[in-house]
Amino acid sequence: MARKKIVAANWKMNLTLSEGEKLINQLLEGLPEVLECEVVLAPPFTHLQMLVELVGGTSILPAAQHCHAEKAGAYTGEVSVAMLNSLGIKYCITGHSERRQLFFETNQIVRSKVDAILEGGLTPIFCCGESLDIRQASQQNQFVKEQLEECIFHLGPDAFRKLVIAYEPIWAIGTGMTASPEQAQEMHLFIRDTIRQAYDSDISDEIRILYGGSIKADNAATLFAAPDVDGGLVGGASLQPAGFIEIIKAAC
Ligand code: 13P
Repeated sequence: MARKKIVAANWKMNLTLSEGEKLINQLLEGLPEVLECEVVLAPPFTHLQMLVELVGGTSILPAAQHCHAEKAGAYTGEVSVAMLNSLGIKYCITGHSERRQLFFETNQIVRSKVDAILEGGLTPIFCCGESLDIRQASQQNQFVKEQLEECIFHLGPDAFRKLVIAYEPIWAIGTGMTASPEQAQEMHLFIRDTIRQAYDSDISDEIRILYGGSIKADNAATLFAAPDVDGGLVGGASLQPAGFIEIIKAAC
């Protein structure tokens, strides 16, 4: 079956409210009303209400970059999935390497967030991917397999098929060192095969696996043409409307 591509923007900690509003309006003006793919925007929490109001009724879907696994309580500074759901947020990124490295999120914490996101009625965009050291030691498959096993393979088939997976090699994030389409395809196929072994071919055929790491307007089309790459999770290049629209058009 054909998998609908997704182009998701991870703004990270960038843009003020007015800068974000301007960018969303530029995207709305520049994109065709009907798109063959899903466009997802994940701005900072402070921008989510505005995003939801601006994109309501359009083909852009709102996403959060982060959440807490607990439903409510004394967790100063944190945001629950129920809060995101009450705003109309559809996706939540989890397992991003920046959260793992800078905020010490382990596979166990990511696993509990995947559960919380699903229970709260949102779709997790689960990120995995290896560091440069691991790739240079040719251990990337084993490393990513372990992330899958420890963060998402506990899910039953009905919950698992709701996930979106993003393969984001750490060495390609924000470095300009994009994975080649061959490197991306090889890992995406490995992830799909690993899912087939853990679940079945229906699930592995339908699950969407995005690539992330230095996607730009000039490399998006060749990456998205790889048969097991179902779109992208875009950081830096999602902050420039013209370039991001080009990236979206490469997928749609
Ligand atoms: P860049 O596109 O800036 O490399 O970031 C990728 C990323 O981390 C998306 O989540």
